[in-house]
Amino acid sequence: MAYLKIDTGRYPVHIGNIYPALASFLSEKHFSSMFLLVDENTLEHCYPSLADAIPGVESYHLIKILSGEKHKTLESCQQVWEQLTLQQADRKALMINLSGGVLSDLGGFCAASYKRGITFINIPTTLLSMVDASVGGKVGIDFLGYKNQIGLFTNPEAVFIFPEFLKTLPARQLKSGFAEMLKHGFIADKQYLNELFERDLQNISPTDWHPLIAHSVNLKNKIVKQDPKESGLRKILNFGHTIGHALESYSFSTSMPLLHGEAIAAGMMLELLLSKDLCRLDENFTADALLKLQALFPELRLWSFTVEPVMKRMLMEKKNFNGNVMMALLEAPGKAVFDVAVTSEQIEKTLLKWPLKS
Ligand SMILES: NC(=O)c1ccc[n+]([C@@H]2O[C@H](COP(=O)([O-])OP(=O)(O)OC[C@H]3O[C@@H](n4cnc5c(N)ncnc54)[C@H](O)[C@@H]3O)[C@@H](O)[C@H]2O)c1
Ligand SMILES: [Zn+2]
Repeated sequence: MAYLKIDTGRYPVHIGNIYPALASFLSEKHFSSMFLLVDENTLEHCYPSLADAIPGVESYHLIKILSGEKHKTLESCQQVWEQLTLQQADRKALMINLSGGVLSDLGGFCAASYKRGITFINIPTTLLSMVDASVGGKVGIDFLGYKNQIGLFTNPEAVFIFPEFLKTLPARQLKSGFAEMLKHGFIADKQYLNELFERDLQNISPTDWHPLIAHSVNLKNKIVKQDPKESGLRKILNFGHTIGHALESYSFSTSMPLLHGEAIAAGMMLELLLSKDLCRLDENFTADALLKLQALFPELRLWSFTVEPVMKRMLMEKKNFNGNVMMALLEAPGKAVFDVAVTSEQIEKTLLKWPLKS
């Protein structure tokens, strides 16, 4: 498999056959001890490949946390800090997050706060964590039911992306990550969006994933680099997320919880409609994009929500201003704008169109 190194400006992202670069990183840095954070699935599916390729991994301290967003909590952090303390990790210890976005957010947060900060690296194992959580320096945990309520900006020392891990990722999880890649296309690269829509998700090999992951990492990095703390331009990455997050958190209170990317796909559909109404996004483009998203996420047609609790969740968000909801919308394919003030009436009217007609 090909190998590529992207310099984000703050740390390198290695993509492809990462093992030689990972082996040199581990041997050159002289860490006092190594901690490997996994969940039961990454332990089963990803750990063996790592242990085969990197000598001595068996002697690392393994920290296991149960998988799932519901474990992205302070209790899980306590387990991690407990292990670090019991194993006498000092400030020269290394935390390796071999995981999807849940544990890379949590592991990064634990590492950043243990003894005021130890080094951590991410080896993302889901498509979502490869293309999205790998760039941007956000770490954190959920608290009292609010997503990413406690957290901070801090960067890993390096990220190592091995697309081969995608072979064991469940199809539903793969599609969830794909939604974030589509978002990158929607907001910043029309040609990339078309290319993604033409792909057959079932038949993308790890080798084919390689350039696509690299492109998404580059697109996100270009945006984050200009506005690391999200005071302006970086907000365009929230396209699909204002409504999407409200749908996601609403779905957790139902018997049909959505994955993050599924909620974002639904959010993008509704925010495409708002973009057409408020930002003059081309009508034909909007209709075509909606059809393609619906074809990719047919299961969303069977999913519905009640407008009132979703509105309530959206209005509680920190991004609101003067009673309006501030959104990132599209003014053209591949071109997003941020801080568009949308009234609750406009949002409600759009939400009532769900489920969208095909
Ligand atoms: N920090 C950021 O910038 C950022 C960006 C986007 C999302 N996130 C966070 O990421 C989280 C979602 O991440 P996610 O979608 O990766 O979910 P996840 O970490 O829960 O992983 C999804 C599921 O796939 C399993 N899994 C992981 N890799 C596997 C593999 N190779 N083979 C088989 N199974 C595997 C996991 O055990 C889990 O059950 C959310 O908490 C979100 O807030 C953070
Ligand atoms: Zn997202």
